[in-house]
Amino acid sequence: MNPPTQSILIVDDEPSLGSVIQSLLKQEGIASTYVSSGPRAIEYLTTARHRVDVVITDLSMPEMSGMELLEIVREKWPELPVVMLTAMNSVSTAVEAMRKGAYDFLVKPCDRVQITATLQRAFRESERRDEPRRHQAVLAESGLLGDSDALRDARERLMRVAESDATVLIRGESGTGKELAARLVHKASRRRAGPFVAANCGAFALNLLESEVFGHEKGAFTGATVRKPGRLELANNGTLFLDEIGDTPGELQVRLLRVLQERTFERVGGKETLKADVRFIAATHRNLEELIERGTFREDLFYRLNVVPVWLPPLRDRREDIATLARHFCQTFGDRYRRPEAHYTPDALEFLRDQPWPGNVRELQNLTERLVALASDARITREHIAAELVREPGGRLSPAPSITPPPAVEAARTGAVDASQKSLQDIRRERDREALKEALRATKNNRSAAARLLKVSRRTIYNMIEECGLEDYKPPR
Ligand SMILES: Nc1ncnc2c1ncn2[C@@H]1O[C@H](COP(=O)(O)OP(=O)(O)OP(=O)(O)O)[C@@H](O)[C@H]1O
Ligand SMILES: [Mg+2]
Repeated sequence: MNPPTQSILIVDDEPSLGSVIQSLLKQEGIASTYVSSGPRAIEYLTTARHRVDVVITDLSMPEMSGMELLEIVREKWPELPVVMLTAMNSVSTAVEAMRKGAYDFLVKPCDRVQITATLQRAFRESERRDEPRRHQAVLAESGLLGDSDALRDARERLMRVAESDATVLIRGESGTGKELAARLVHKASRRRAGPFVAANCGAFALNLLESEVFGHEKGAFTGATVRKPGRLELANNGTLFLDEIGDTPGELQVRLLRVLQERTFERVGGKETLKADVRFIAATHRNLEELIERGTFREDLFYRLNVVPVWLPPLRDRREDIATLARHFCQTFGDRYRRPEAHYTPDALEFLRDQPWPGNVRELQNLTERLVALASDARITREHIAAELVREPGGRLSPAPSITPPPAVEAARTGAVDASQKSLQDIRRERDREALKEALRATKNNRSAAARLLKVSRRTIYNMIEECGLEDYKPPR
């Protein structure tokens, strides 16, 4: 794992000593800058474009003593660790400097081992002191918006787990922000300078997926004309995001289990065993416990992945976030479609707040994009929204039928691989079937209660049950 780039400021009135330390650090791969006096150091710290991690300063210098410099740095840049360089006969002054807040001191002449050991400790201290600021910056950048307690809790958990190298399993319904959350973990982790690579474990046929993740050797199969690295290899020193892990075919689950256990793998058709220096984050909207029960997901893989589970709550359980998100998306798409004045009216925001949002944040985002793109007026009202939505059985929101794209267009838009050639209607029926089953399960097969839960009439629920072939369905206890 590469540490993030480090940078040191060396302050010494003797250029020869400065350059010795500089070249020593260079050999260790640490960037440094040398200045010859305290005032120059302050000027540098004030104007430098990058962060300085550690200052290392001589104690006795003519223009400004190391002690004076220390006091100024402590006041202006309190998080910056300062290491004092001192001659044998002035160790007591160095001790005094420690009392005044110096991080450590080195007695001249000092050797490479002493210098690097002290600096490594100072770096860690610098990272530790800088953590709150870095977290703020990562959070602000992450775009995982929302002030609800539920989202705050999830965000905090993500930030905490980011520090460790532990495997994370992000769970939540479709469109709740799982990928965004995975990127947040990567950016807040020590691997942030490395790559973030995503692999969709449900999108390809098995053999394609295998070579996609593990890579292949030349000649491994027909069409493998060159050696190709897999996502796992590309993610080296960084993070591999195993998306839709619940859809992973069985054979691939076995191979993934091995990588997670042993951190080694082979390319498809290869003999060489390669090391995977990778942090794993997996995500799924599926009920893995149920898949395990049905025998389609391996229990041992589940436990390997589920080291730190993080749940992202559905949007309907954190309605406080809806207005914040809606305003944010309005602004984003307003800028994109050159309609910067586009905004939801207060009444429209209230209306949005009351919707069921089965597609969660993604659905709100898509709806807002559509409304902003179509808006003839800067104000987006409740009526505009209502016109874009029709209700389907089960209270689902969906585009009005007149603008429903044919399946192929829909598949292209969502990037779904249309492997099974399912029609949009089939997909919808399947979704309804799942929702219906869930409602029957939740109500212990009470059809009237299920109707109320799904906000449809009794008559509709009977029709749906017939349409979905669930007449004889008995929910598991
Ligand atoms: N809290 C949030 N703040 C801002 N944008 C969000 C938030 N949550 C999700 N989004 C946006 O909603 C969209 C869907 O999010 P994302 O792709 O992370 O969801 P997902 O949980 O991975 O969905 P799926 O299970 O369908 O893959 C993205 O465009 C994302 O940027
Ligand atoms: Mg996703």
